[in-house]
Amino acid sequence: MSIAARAVAMRDARTVPARVDASRARVGAAVTRKPPRRTATSSSYLSVRVVPRATAADASETPATASASAPRWDLPRPPHDAGAAPENGTWSPTNQTIKDWRSLYKNTTLSVKGDGEGRVIEGAAIEGEIPKELKGTLFRNGPGLLEIYGKKLNQFFDGDGLVYSTTFDGEGGVKFRHNFVGTKGFTDEQAAQQMLYKGAFAIGNPKGDSFYNPFDFDVKNVANTGVVNWGGETYALWEGGKPHKMRSSDLGTVGEVEEVLGTKLRVPQMAAHYRIWEGETEADKRLIGFSIESQPSKFPWTSNSAAFYEWDAEGKSTVVNNFDVPNATFAFAHDCLVTENWYFLFQNPTSLNPQKLLTEYMFAECALAETICMVDGKSAILHCLPRTEKARKIGQKAIELKPQFFFHHINAFERENGDIVLDSLPWVFMDFSMNLDSVNPAFFNGGSRVEYTRFVVDPVRETCKQTILNNRVGEFPTMNNKFVGRKYTHAFSAGTVVKDDVKWGPNQCLVKHTSDPESESPVSEQVWYYGERCFVQEPIFAPRPGGTAEDDGWVLQVVNDAGAETSKLHIFEAQDIAKGPVASILFEGEHLPPGLHGMWAQDALY
Ligand SMILES: [Fe+2]
Repeated sequence: MSIAARAVAMRDARTVPARVDASRARVGAAVTRKPPRRTATSSSYLSVRVVPRATAADASETPATASASAPRWDLPRPPHDAGAAPENGTWSPTNQTIKDWRSLYKNTTLSVKGDGEGRVIEGAAIEGEIPKELKGTLFRNGPGLLEIYGKKLNQFFDGDGLVYSTTFDGEGGVKFRHNFVGTKGFTDEQAAQQMLYKGAFAIGNPKGDSFYNPFDFDVKNVANTGVVNWGGETYALWEGGKPHKMRSSDLGTVGEVEEVLGTKLRVPQMAAHYRIWEGETEADKRLIGFSIESQPSKFPWTSNSAAFYEWDAEGKSTVVNNFDVPNATFAFAHDCLVTENWYFLFQNPTSLNPQKLLTEYMFAECALAETICMVDGKSAILHCLPRTEKARKIGQKAIELKPQFFFHHINAFERENGDIVLDSLPWVFMDFSMNLDSVNPAFFNGGSRVEYTRFVVDPVRETCKQTILNNRVGEFPTMNNKFVGRKYTHAFSAGTVVKDDVKWGPNQCLVKHTSDPESESPVSEQVWYYGERCFVQEPIFAPRPGGTAEDDGWVLQVVNDAGAETSKLHIFEAQDIAKGPVASILFEGEHLPPGLHGMWAQDALY
């Protein structure tokens, strides 16, 4: 089930705003000129004006709230500006922070009828200059509707998937297109103009009944978590159900499928996360995805069927490796890691709570996802699954870890001494009842923190040493795919403003981490803070064509500004993010949802 996937977003979403930066003064002005609504056949343009990056003096003249409908700014001081984050100990999330953050969880302004033609972003406030070598397409997916014909979703993770792409033509031109994923649920509800289906995180029954069949685990496939473009094909991914094939040219939906790139899925669902293995040459390049069933489907029901799939650069299947993963029921293996010889899945210490199922869920008093709970004292398990003959000689392993909850991993690699290093962002714990209404400033004092953590594993002795490398809470890691599965030093993530062992906050920063692959010494950081009213999404790394240095390229990140009510895509030179974005694209008049995951497709130009 994709329950887990969504709790993540909760954290993701926690990106906060900042002082209205200089750029925002101009952006705010642009926002007041809302263009007419677009239709599926229109090709209206987002105007792009190239404006110089504003100065600090400009920023001081900027009103704190740039839109009449934005949350009111209630603090007796102006919001903090973009740039350097407030010093440690001088800032914590406030009620204003929570109010701003919650305001972003609303329906997108993008049409539910799509924009298959695409729109050229022509004069729409591109601040700075888009790098000429940046050529390719950024794909993103995320929940686009949080209210369906008058019924609000109390959980972000249940929103219908909205896939959008931003294509850079390499000559400074930018094209944007979007489409909701045409799932059965989305299509039926749009036709009926009412909510018809329950989501995994929803409380209550859209049909109005006060009783659920407790054994009915069927929930709406919202197709909202990931997107992959490979071998000319595009799929919207949600781990609780089948993938949806999309037309790469206009992001229209072909339909729900049981095959991906011609490969029949062993388990009729596919995780929203995958790894892109670049290898040494184009011939080595692989897309590596996986499936794992949430409950055993075969006798004696003690293991969960799983499979790792690999496709070459052309989209041709090269191998399918099947595994039986013991005792992994409701383990939420959301993400994976891969090295030259191994695949890795992390099993969460979760289990179905039958009492909650029969006393709360059955009477529509809690969501299905809330019946899956962390079990006190239960260990997490690292499953080491052989990818090559060398690993098969060691054998499939299940290594016990301390209790913690895993969503997203960073990277893994093998050391010469046989140790395997796995870097991840584990949560201290996970509570699936957490939702938009339950988060408050106190939530960010201790609690379920998420820190850059290194696991050094000896697969032969079945041992693991766990070390925290950074005490800045963060989520949504990304890196240069050329270093996936290999020794690496740089990773990028969404991060909080506060760097502290206890306190933290919503994600309001882009963070560049630099680690030592040969030791467990703390990472060093570079940080760009977007300002007090801005909340950041997952960063994506785009390599410079021909570049060899690991951080030679750009980081792309969509940011929602609650004060100015804008959505912007920022582009950073990855080698120096602290200087701020080199270009920022305003999606003029549009609210892009605080999204989940995406990818950079270098060769995709549509
Ligand atoms: Fe995820």
